[in-house]
This record gives sequence, structure tokens and C-alpha cells, in this order.
Amino acid sequence: MEKILVIGAAGQIGSELTLALRNTYGNSNVYATDIKQAPKDVVESGPFQILDVMDDKRLIHFIIANKITQIYHLAAVLSGNAEKLPLQAWDINMRSILSILDICKEVGVKKLFWPSSIAVFGRTTPKVNTPQLTITEPNTVYGISKLAGERWCEYYFNRYNVDVRSIRYPGLISYKTEAGGGTTDYAVEIYYEAIKKGCYECFLQEDATLPMLFMPDAIEGTLQLMEADASKIKIRSSYNLSGISFNPDEIADSIKKHIPEFTISYKPDFRQKIAESWPQSIDDSIARAEWGWKHKYDLDSMTAVMLKEIKKKLISNKHLVNHG
Ligand code: SER
Repeated sequence: MEKILVIGAAGQIGSELTLALRNTYGNSNVYATDIKQAPKDVVESGPFQILDVMDDKRLIHFIIANKITQIYHLAAVLSGNAEKLPLQAWDINMRSILSILDICKEVGVKKLFWPSSIAVFGRTTPKVNTPQLTITEPNTVYGISKLAGERWCEYYFNRYNVDVRSIRYPGLISYKTEAGGGTTDYAVEIYYEAIKKGCYECFLQEDATLPMLFMPDAIEGTLQLMEADASKIKIRSSYNLSGISFNPDEIADSIKKHIPEFTISYKPDFRQKIAESWPQSIDDSIARAEWGWKHKYDLDSMTAVMLKEIKKKLISNKHLVNHG
């Protein structure tokens, strides 16, 4: 019987992954935790507890007391926010993965999932169809912490046999929970603003092409990687993974197919430099060959779902405010 701990269950990935895991493994077997309150459906569909990943004594106690067999560690400070408080972000991102790797080794947790990012790449990396093995010279705190984390994951696998699995997520687009503090977040904000105001001021330049993925594909891929036979998982640092690539101009065009009067304007900030240092597209052929990764959504099919679901959400929030 699997007992699964999700750390960061209130976040953009965690709030959706927790529900998907509960569907597969049973509601009571998936323990959701975060430092902040999680969405209603996460709290109500199974165990939820406020838990700070930096409090390693409580974390170990929780893992032993609940006989946890798998951990999904999703808590991190994202790229934009990390640039504002570099040392604090480094401390949170690094200390948490190191302590969890060590807990897995000591307690014998069977499997660990930890997300890496396209942020491990940098200015000197080939930008188009970026290979799995290539130059990695990140120049953001977030990217440096993800690259170091990847090296530690591989180290714990080689040295202590910790079955750790990881994906270098591209920008993740979702309607349920907003990300907060990332460089790719414009591609979520733009849908909300298109519906609310009919226009959007973008913090990246119109030609800032980045690799992206719609959340249902990301969740599916994550579960697939975690369920694959260990012998198929040859990469123990982190897998390149990709679905779509687009720039702000292209996503705006995709929105205009539904909202013809939508307009976009540009006011690039510090995140433009971060975007420029990242790849435009990713070669994920190893993930496709080794454990069967494939994505379903392209830009237009994602746009259709995003607009429909955000409209629904905004209407029901308004309804709640009017009647609450
Ligand atoms: N979406 C993340 C960010 O922009 C990249 O992993 O920080």
C-alpha cells in the first residue's frame, strides 16, 4: 500500500497533482502539506496539514508516523522571486531538497519526485531543440539551485540507491492555481486579463519564445514517470520535457481567435533577461523513448480550455462574492 506525501500541495502543480494522485492511490493515502492553506478540494478530499518543509524535525516525524512510501517535493521559490532575495531563495530551494534526499535514504522512502526546470540552462546553451546533455551555465539563483539539486539527486541515486525521479519542467500553464514569481507566468496572467479587461501589458518582449506545457499534460507525464519501471529510468538527474513553444505575440493571436478585440502591449522588466537566457525549445526525445512521454495539447487547444475554465471560475467567484 502506497502512502504518498505531497509537499507544496497548495501550489500551482501541487493543487492539481494531489487530486490526480488521490484518484489513483485513494484519497486517504495521499497526504497534502504546505505552509499555506490549500484549495478547498485538496483540503476536503483527503488529509491536509500545514507543514513547513524547512522544519526537518517535524518533517521526519510526519514521514515516519504516517509510514510514507513516496514523496513529491514541489515547494520552491521560482525564478523571478528568487532574484529579489537570492540567499534566502538558495537556502529554501537547496536545504529542502537536501534534507528530503537524506530522509529518503535514512528512512527508506521508496520513491521521490522533485521538479527541476528549463532554468538549469543559460546564455551559453544552444537555444533551439536544447539537448538533454548540453552546456548548463545558469545565471539565475533559481537555475543554479535547480542544477545543484539535479546533481545531488543523481548523487543520492548512485551512492545510496534513492529512487529519485525528476523532470525539467518548461513553463507550466494552468487555470486552477496561479504560480507566482516565475518568468513564464505571463502566459497564465494573459488569459485572466484577456477575459477581465480585454487587454494585457506583458513583462516579456513580443518575440520571447519559451518552451511551455499545459498542466494536464504535465500531470500525466509526472504520473507516468513515477509509475514507470525503475529499470527504464536511465536519467537520475532530470529529464528534458516539452510540449509547445510560443512567444507573447503568438499566444495573443491564439486568444484573438476567441476574443477578436483583445490587445497586447509590452513593458519588459527584469524577467526579460531571464527569458533571454533560457531555451526556446527543448529536445525531449529521451523521455519519449525511455518511458513513453507524449503531450496532447497545442497552443490553440490549450487556449480554448484556459478561456473556458477561467471564465467559469471568475463567474463562480463573482457569484460567491455577491452572495457571501
Ligand atoms: N516556470 C518557472 C519560472 O518561470 C520555470 O521553471 O520560474
